[in-house]
Amino acid sequence: MAHHRITVERIAGGCGAEIGGVDLRRPLDPDTIAEIRRALVENLCVFFRGQDGMTDLDQARFAGYFGPFGRDPFVEGEATHPNVVKVAKEADEGDKPTFGGSWHSDWSFLETPPSFTFLHARELPPFGGDTMFSNQYLAYETLSDGLRRTLDGLRAVYWAKSYAKSAAFFDNRNARGMKVRHDETAMAEMVHPVVRVHPESGRRALFANDAYTVRFENVTQRESQPLLDFLYAQAVRSEFTCRFTWSPGAMAIWDNRCLQHYAINDYGGHRREMRRTTLRGEKPIAVGEDDNRRPVAAQ
Ligand code: SIN
Repeated sequence: MAHHRITVERIAGGCGAEIGGVDLRRPLDPDTIAEIRRALVENLCVFFRGQDGMTDLDQARFAGYFGPFGRDPFVEGEATHPNVVKVAKEADEGDKPTFGGSWHSDWSFLETPPSFTFLHARELPPFGGDTMFSNQYLAYETLSDGLRRTLDGLRAVYWAKSYAKSAAFFDNRNARGMKVRHDETAMAEMVHPVVRVHPESGRRALFANDAYTVRFENVTQRESQPLLDFLYAQAVRSEFTCRFTWSPGAMAIWDNRCLQHYAINDYGGHRREMRRTTLRGEKPIAVGEDDNRRPVAAQ
């Protein structure tokens, strides 16, 4: 479908488009927001360049056009706005883990994981620090009929393992430039369908990630691991991905319900600072559950 208020240019076969012709630092009218949302549903992640000088309040206003804010466990928002979170790695943190530095879907251990995430570039390293995205509709649709049918009926257990006491992101052990705090209320196990139905596209997406999925429901971790390892590899096949190279002031929006993403940790010795906002998503919709749940989820 044609766009009248924005330009949309696809950047890879798997997912991703650059949007032009819009200034996110100013209030936007409903028709422009509707076009951006349509481009997002069609391309799964969208990128806007040249939004330099965008403030935390501009970011909160823009994100708020797309739905209610989400809950961000473990990280504190900025004083300027509680739903705008600093994501940073300092130059002297070398090869320490980067926030978001493994394939994942944001906060997928929560009961209602985020729908969209907004990320704005504030300070970039001279090279590196790209973000990769992978299309989970394609990850599901390219499986055999038999495996798809098996997965349609499975549920998996999630746990915020990278925020546990022994792990990389417990408190401010790593990511010193960020406000990371222990949050016991987000440490409970959660169960989600392995295949989720997207409330806007109606398509089925694979929903399991190495960062937060621990095993299938009613199955031991040891029994689960071989199939999980296969699904994690399937989820990020190169042909399903796009890679976004940030430029100063660039803004990304991605849909966690049909994508995984990965922040590449290849800029040791240099500083990178971003601002991140998440929106509240629905409880993941299982196959067969979609008929009565879809209207509730549309935001
Ligand atoms: C994230 O996973 O939210 C961070 C992505 C990035 O910093 O590129």
